[in-house]
Amino acid sequence: MSRRTIQLDTPVHEWLMTHSLRETPIQHELRMAMEGHPEGEMQTSPEQVQLLALLLKTMKASRVIEVGVFTGYSAMGMAMALPDDGLVVACDLSPEHMAVAQEWWDRAGVSDRIQPRVGPASESLTQLLEAGEAGSYDFIYCDADKTGYPEYYELGLQLLRPGGLLTFDNMLRGGRVADPLVDDESTVATRELAAKLLADERVDYSLNPIGDGLALAMKRG
Ligand SMILES: C[S@@+](CC[C@H](N)C(=O)[O-])C[C@H]1O[C@@H](n2cnc3c(N)ncnc32)[C@H](O)[C@@H]1O
Repeated sequence: MSRRTIQLDTPVHEWLMTHSLRETPIQHELRMAMEGHPEGEMQTSPEQVQLLALLLKTMKASRVIEVGVFTGYSAMGMAMALPDDGLVVACDLSPEHMAVAQEWWDRAGVSDRIQPRVGPASESLTQLLEAGEAGSYDFIYCDADKTGYPEYYELGLQLLRPGGLLTFDNMLRGGRVADPLVDDESTVATRELAAKLLADERVDYSLNPIGDGLALAMKRG
């Protein structure tokens, strides 16, 4: 038992990685390929992707949206957790990132479950609503521009079914959310979303100190 979350120093983190990860060889290869990459820090941590996959299976999810694909690690892990007819709508601004992700998804054999959408995520999510897909998604994972999070929250709530889960990465911003001297626009937007999530009666809510902070908001019926 414990009354507060423990700090993960390097040995404890290494123990956790060694004793809990169930990455497939292709997931491991993609993660290793991003080590030392100039933007490699953007990749979602493996224990967090494993949690997302477990949540999807718990919910019997089949329709997922990802906002922020990068080279496809989290989308790959979520696609692997879906049934054969499952769908991940994968949204990213960058055609270059999406092209790299597509190659990895092909190699992992999950491309048939992933629908790439290149462009600003606010536009992609709006297009899904305009196509009549409100209330038809089980799960949304947001891991992109933090200033866009408030808009992804409102659009995402419309796209989710009641009981669906809307999730946001980087809610702790490496600890900067708690530093009053930090006032960059991404941190300010993250604090604003945190305050909104805490007060919003439309969702049940939990903020988890995994990775860089993962917010879970379940749409109430
Ligand atoms: C942190 S990375 C995503 C990491 C990914 N989830 C993974 O596990 O590898 C953020 C991604 O968001 C994308 N992005 C940034 N702003 C965006 C926007 N307005 N709309 C869509 N994607 C955006 C970036 O191109 C980048 O690939």
